[in-house]
Amino acid sequence: MSTRRRVSTRISAISESATLAVDAKAKAMKAAGRPVIGFGAGEPDFPTPDYIVEAAVAAAREPRFHKYTPAGGLPELKQAIAAKTRRDSGYEADASRVLVTNGGKQAVYEAFATLLDPGDEVLVVAPYWTTYPEAIKLAGGVQVDVVTDETTGYLASVEQLEAARTDRTKVLLFVSPSNPTGAVYSREQTVEIGRWAAEHGLWVVTDEIYEHLTYGGAEFTSIATAVPELGDQVVILNGVAKTYAMTGWRVGWLIGPSDVVKAATNLQSHATSNVSNVSQMAALAAVSGDLSAVARMREAFDRRRQTMVRMLNEIPGVLCPEPKGAFYAYPAVKELIGKELRGRRPGSSAELAELILEEAEVAVVPGEAFGTPGYFRLSYALGDDDLVEGVSRLAKLLTEAH
Ligand SMILES: Cc1ncc(COP(=O)(O)O)c(C=O)c1O
Repeated sequence: MSTRRRVSTRISAISESATLAVDAKAKAMKAAGRPVIGFGAGEPDFPTPDYIVEAAVAAAREPRFHKYTPAGGLPELKQAIAAKTRRDSGYEADASRVLVTNGGKQAVYEAFATLLDPGDEVLVVAPYWTTYPEAIKLAGGVQVDVVTDETTGYLASVEQLEAARTDRTKVLLFVSPSNPTGAVYSREQTVEIGRWAAEHGLWVVTDEIYEHLTYGGAEFTSIATAVPELGDQVVILNGVAKTYAMTGWRVGWLIGPSDVVKAATNLQSHATSNVSNVSQMAALAAVSGDLSAVARMREAFDRRRQTMVRMLNEIPGVLCPEPKGAFYAYPAVKELIGKELRGRRPGSSAELAELILEEAEVAVVPGEAFGTPGYFRLSYALGDDDLVEGVSRLAKLLTEAH
């Protein structure tokens, strides 16, 4: 019998997406008739706006879209993405520096695959979104965590970044607004961090997918625009998923210097080729239209955000800083770990989340998924009534802990 591994070492090392796993378990319980309320989802609960769907329907009827198109994206979409980027973040990039990808996720993979050689270090602010570590690892890179907590609203300082920098550091990953914490860096903080990165010759990979979801006076700042000193060592990641409620359409993009975009396009040409033309035409309608749909979603998210944060902070042992962006709250639940609850004594936030799912039929994602045990991530992209009911159930259960 062969002693070779059935699944390669590289791919065996990839973990299941913890957020999708929680979501799947909650959906399975729901399908079995249990009234589960899920705070796990990372997607808006709104439908894609009609004018975007109509553009897709029209595209599906056009024979030229039944064929292969350029691997790097439809030229008209690349143009529109360049124009949208100029409009929304003031960043000037020619359409030739845009690569249209299968969702923001593929842009994340391709950015790290293109920039990293084995052993290159990437500074990642924790809590971080679950996909980054896997993308960095697959590219042979080494993730160096810069751990933040609720006391700073999950914002990293230049001092912390500098303490984590070594001769091998190549990339700083900058994510604002952040998934999972909702933290948003101010313009001043963004400029300070960007200048520090430029001073040390680092590349900055900036994930701007939540750019339009900020609240309570917080404003998105594109580090690429705010820090011209970064020169051409910036790669912007973005997509239509969160802004236009288009998670299922799978359109994202990467904007970078010509050599990086060309190399990443070569990679994509062998991996997946062009993104579905129908989805690209839907994305074209989205990015060339106005921002009224996201303004309406933002209003609903803001209302839910305030309700959720207030209710969470009323629970003894739960501490939730105010998230300023995206659609997640990230409360600390450290004080509840090890306490007795319904005859059990959960020893970690993962165990506590499991108990909550079983006893209160509420799904939350434990902080283990984001590199910081002792926390939960709750999405507030769900209906107001469900939100109140879910957090009330959580409060009722957790108040029993002693
Ligand atoms: C921070 C962040 N970046 C990128 C993505 C990728 O989104 P998609 O692949 O659906 O475009 C997500 C989705 O959850 C995200 O939270």
